[in-house]
Amino acid sequence: MYEIKVERTAAPKAKPADESKLGFGTIFTDHMLVINYDKGQGWHSARIIPYGPISMEPSAMCLHYGQTIFEGLKAYRGDDGSVYLFRPQENFKRLGASCERLCIPKLDEGLLLESLRQLVEIDRDWIPKAKDSSLYIRPFIIATEPKLGVKPADNYLYMVLLSPSGPYYPTGLDPVKIYVEKNYVRAVRGGIGMAKTGGNYAASLKAQDEAHEQDYSQVLWLDGVERKYIEEVGAMNMFFVLGDEVVTPALSGSILSGITRKSVLELLRSWGMNATERRLSIDEVVEAYKNGKLSEAFGTGTAAVISPVGELKYDELVMTIGGGKIGPISQKLYDTLTSLQWGRSEDPFGWRVKVC
Ligand code: PLP
Ligand code: COI
Repeated sequence: MYEIKVERTAAPKAKPADESKLGFGTIFTDHMLVINYDKGQGWHSARIIPYGPISMEPSAMCLHYGQTIFEGLKAYRGDDGSVYLFRPQENFKRLGASCERLCIPKLDEGLLLESLRQLVEIDRDWIPKAKDSSLYIRPFIIATEPKLGVKPADNYLYMVLLSPSGPYYPTGLDPVKIYVEKNYVRAVRGGIGMAKTGGNYAASLKAQDEAHEQDYSQVLWLDGVERKYIEEVGAMNMFFVLGDEVVTPALSGSILSGITRKSVLELLRSWGMNATERRLSIDEVVEAYKNGKLSEAFGTGTAAVISPVGELKYDELVMTIGGGKIGPISQKLYDTLTSLQWGRSEDPFGWRVKVC
């Protein structure tokens, strides 16, 4: 139904010799996917070609005004050799939402899935076998029209890269230290915080740098208006266990609608737990910490999966959560999600898509 041309590489690269040292997002496979958009013609010329540099004019609009969006998902190699994707349709829906916000023409979701399926199948031997490693998938769109006027571009490239990767945090499931950011903000309601677009990540670098200097691995963003309500972490949504309630900030328009977040909410509710999406102030978290009601905090994301927070710093207050160790809810979520993703358990929600 979809025409996707395939040009295989004549010079396959050597695969990583030591899968325990993959790191995140530094190695790329033999092939990539490209689809062009030209005004008047729509999206066309879907093709899988050897991975390599692309050329564009220095006046390409993405280089000047940031009209770029991306996604992130993974392919997992099951014990029986099957290859699975986890809820890829959700990524393509979110790509569509980012397209809308950034004035980029949308792609057909059927084409997105079928072209990704073929790309992953062609490079399936690159999917690592080491524990907790997978093939990270990076779809993205850039505006390529050569023009310096500020307006939505008339030409775009959609591409997909594949990167065999280990855990996002080198510490794996060990709890991370996070610092609550008071000076810088990432996004405001009405801005582009809900889109997966480069500018949001550029906006986060300065705070991230300062956090690293103080030996914290990420920052926790507060809302941009009152600097009071919890938003998210650099590449993760956040959850807090307060008594018998598991709370995550409601989707306000300024945070990313995470697919892991959505899956965690669905899992918790299926276990009969009280999982809520609401406004949550940092003062409420501090209060719960002081009253002994804050038992766990964790981030959720494709790259990070479930990342327990062992220490949260707000002003001068350093909160050690769950004795700095992973808590039972975080552990159960991690075990359940990873078993589902790697095809080691039943899939009652129909979240897995078998690629090959
Ligand atoms: N928030 C931000 C800013 C992110 O970059 C990510 C990573 O994709 C997430 C949250 C988590 O989203 P997901 O679970 O869909 O990976
Ligand atoms: C992901 O979890 O897929 C992400 O996009 C994280 C990325 C910003 C490194």
